[in-house]
Amino acid sequence: MIWQSDIIKNLEWGDTISNKAAKQKVAEQIAAKVKDGDVLGVGSGSTSFMAILAIADKIKGEKLNIKAIPTSIEIGMFCSKLGIPLTSLTEASPDWYFDGADEVDPNKNLIKGRGGAMFKEKLLMSCSPVNYIIVDESKLVNKLGSKFPVPIEVFPAAVLHVEEQLKALEADSLVIRPAKGKDGPVITENGNLVLDAKFGNIPFDLEQKIKAITGVIESGLFINYNVEVLVA
Ligand code: 5RP
Repeated sequence: MIWQSDIIKNLEWGDTISNKAAKQKVAEQIAAKVKDGDVLGVGSGSTSFMAILAIADKIKGEKLNIKAIPTSIEIGMFCSKLGIPLTSLTEASPDWYFDGADEVDPNKNLIKGRGGAMFKEKLLMSCSPVNYIIVDESKLVNKLGSKFPVPIEVFPAAVLHVEEQLKALEADSLVIRPAKGKDGPVITENGNLVLDAKFGNIPFDLEQKIKAITGVIESGLFINYNVEVLVA
């Protein structure tokens, strides 16, 4: 039976989309890569949203059979709205993955997680043999951490322990990310907090050092991953 619901039908992207024309260009580049039978890992954020719109058009036009593994409730709901069947990592493994980023350095290292979905984003990327990062030029930086803090998902009871350990890793500032639309902090889809950490310097082993802290679920640092970056 099909739900008689307006919620999914009326779903819209909440915020203004910055650099929309450039995002549209990379969205079309991603759609051009879709082949019949693909299982796609789908990232989160506005660029991924625009890519999934372009992919939905291609699916309709060419009558393709595609399944999507979403990295957030939000992107999963947009797939549902667009008629793209969902699957999960316990049923299928992605043929390829695409996602946006907040910062990309010249060595293709990334900061992600403005949307708070970095745990599942990293999981999908780790499971996928091919990964495309789709960005507009505003995301390119010479040095990671220039514009964005490093988001760190933390088990709530561990937050003060994690604070102490991050200070020992020379975090300059640490903020529990506040929610918009609810009082108090952001609670991730996994029930955790997000600590936004600024570091003056991000050495190549910082991702591993952060991950090694008990209570850290994942960070938005992606150092030395197998990614192809598409820039518009
Ligand atoms: C969400 C992310 C996004 O991919 C990143 O924040 C980029 O977002 P946008 O495409 O809206 O600029 O990491 O957790």
